[in-house]
Amino acid sequence: MDFPLAPGSTIGILGGGQLGRMLALAAARLGFDVAILDPEADCPAARVAKTAIAAAYDDPEALKTLAEASDVVTFEFENVPAEAVERLLALGAEVAPNARALAIAQDRIDEKTFLNGAGCPTVAFAAADDLGALEAAIASLGAPCLIKTRREGYDGKGQTWVEHAAEAGAAWARVGRKPVIVEAPAAFRRELSVIAARGRSGEIALYPLGENHHEDGILRRTHAPAEVTDRTRDQAEQIAARILAGLDYVGVLAVELFELGDGQLLVNEIAPRVHNSGHWTLDGCEVDQFEQQIRAVAGWPLGPAEPLARTEMINLIGDDMEQWPELIAEPGARVWFYGKREARPGRKMGHVNRLRPLKG
Ligand SMILES: Nc1ncnc2c1ncn2[C@@H]1O[C@H](COP(=O)(O)OP(=O)(O)O)[C@@H](O)[C@H]1O
Ligand SMILES: [Mg+2]
Repeated sequence: MDFPLAPGSTIGILGGGQLGRMLALAAARLGFDVAILDPEADCPAARVAKTAIAAAYDDPEALKTLAEASDVVTFEFENVPAEAVERLLALGAEVAPNARALAIAQDRIDEKTFLNGAGCPTVAFAAADDLGALEAAIASLGAPCLIKTRREGYDGKGQTWVEHAAEAGAAWARVGRKPVIVEAPAAFRRELSVIAARGRSGEIALYPLGENHHEDGILRRTHAPAEVTDRTRDQAEQIAARILAGLDYVGVLAVELFELGDGQLLVNEIAPRVHNSGHWTLDGCEVDQFEQQIRAVAGWPLGPAEPLARTEMINLIGDDMEQWPELIAEPGARVWFYGKREARPGRKMGHVNRLRPLKG
């Protein structure tokens, strides 16, 4: 494949939720066509894409169609089956970010092992594949501790706190008796994240830190740029740069961070994709995370990640979507609605960005 891809080329995207939709909109602005593969024919991204393939992610025929249609394939969520990426590669498709980055981000033990090896601190952790190992891990890390399934958790799902060692059996049942990571608690003061991008020639662009607030395990609000000390910002930038280089990454990646009482940062987890805590960049930065991802995978130079405004991003979850008539009438509110037909509890339906001047 010849990079940079010319306008008129096709970007394939595995996954057609709101992230795929906003990627498709960014791609369209840059003159690209988009092909979406998602099991749901009527998914948010399919409705703004040139081509939508409705099939399971590991469907061989669908992957062949996607590979043939696309000049480069990327993904909008990290639980794409590894076999799907292998098949795309075997078909000669270009896939970015790379398969190793995807595999590492899919497994919480591999992820923290990679992070520590790359010089990025995390909480202490241990792996457990059965109840005996879980009891041993709790004994060595101490209670309270947090247990998470190694794979496939999101929005706080597949996680449970253990207050006393005696609860190991109950906790093991609560997470479905699956292989887990046991984590020491992070005594964090704030949760921050950094959205980072790396292009095909190895250049990087880092967005200012965002400060994130969760409710019921779901991101509720991000405020950016977060007020941080220079030392904290430097540490975040060093962490992001180490991760991008260590994964030989191409694309946008999110790093979720815990800020401890003394300002030190620990990495909570990474997401090998555009991220909800980066939605503020849509209105608050020169080039937003979605355009940045398209630029990176298309082999274009990265754009500036400079903030233009102090931005507060609020997620519209479930019934929050009923506020749409007021939101569209609010002059300062930049609305992003995902076009989902049904507002189920906990479902991300849209978000709104509100901007204030950077200074003052
Ligand atoms: N080791 C920990 N100590 C304290 N809180 C944690 C820890 N790990 C996760 N959390 C809390 O749980 C939330 C969700 O955990 P996370 O690992 O980010 O999973 P998910 O994939 O569901 O986002 C975090 O944003 C944080 O608030
Ligand atoms: Mg998280």
